[in-house]
Amino acid sequence: MKSHSSSTLLEVRNLKVSFQGIETVTVLSGISFSIRESETLALVGETGCGKSVVAHAIMHLLPPSQK
Ligand SMILES: Nc1ncnc2c1ncn2[C@@H]1O[C@H](COP(=O)(O)OP(=O)(O)O)[C@@H](O)[C@H]1O
Ligand SMILES: [Mg+2]
Repeated sequence: MKSHSSSTLLEVRNLKVSFQGIETVTVLSGISFSIRESETLALVGETGCGKSVVAHAIMHLLPPSQK
């Protein structure tokens, strides 16, 4: 049950991640979600859909932008 007073612990808005190689490949676009206190969120999807990249972006583990 949602408590009216529970606070948002994490908010991701319109996350976009691109990797630059010979070409620039955008692997995430328009990802938005939030997690409130005492909520659990599971990211579910097929291999390669971007679950790990979402986690790496949140933890600032992606390489810095080359731009
Ligand atoms: N360092 C990277 N450079 C280029 N593409 C990447 C890199 N890391 C992940 N990708 C691509 O991003 C997409 C999402 O990968 P990933 O988040 O690892 O998927 P999942 O964890 O859902 O299996 C895949 O197409 C993968 O090939
Ligand atoms: Mg993964």
